[in-house]
Amino acid sequence: MSELTNETRQALIDLGNEARRRAYAPYSKYNVGAALRGKSGRIYTGVNIENAAYPVTICAERVAVFKAVSEGEREFDAISVVTDNGGSPCGSCRQVLAEFGLDITVLIADGEGHLIQETTVRDLLPGAFTPEHLL
Ligand code: THU
Repeated sequence: MSELTNETRQALIDLGNEARRRAYAPYSKYNVGAALRGKSGRIYTGVNIENAAYPVTICAERVAVFKAVSEGEREFDAISVVTDNGGSPCGSCRQVLAEFGLDITVLIADGEGHLIQETTVRDLLPGAFTPEHLL
């Protein structure tokens, strides 16, 4: 967590906030943006994408993870999650992040680009079910 520089933290928050403008959330009107930093240094953004069949909606964090993994990146340092009011990642997103590392830093920020909470996947999902359980 501590190896992230303040510059990197703010860059992830700003990219997540920018991505938020591309959210497709006509039903909830709750725009979410995420920016995920791979160990390579590459950053993958994500937005929530809703659907008229509501449950098919996908969250911003999972879009970012799936984009990254589909591009060949599987190890991550940190993810920002940016909403109007500094909302916290949902349970499904916590589980998807846990698959790729309990030590991933999670930066929860608001629409003004302010860091509301810095935490880790481990702290957000105590007792996580991980790939190790299947070995
Ligand atoms: N949402 C996210 O994108 N990430 C979360 O972690 C929480 C919820 C989205 C899903 C839906 O489009 C909207 O926020 C309201 O639930």
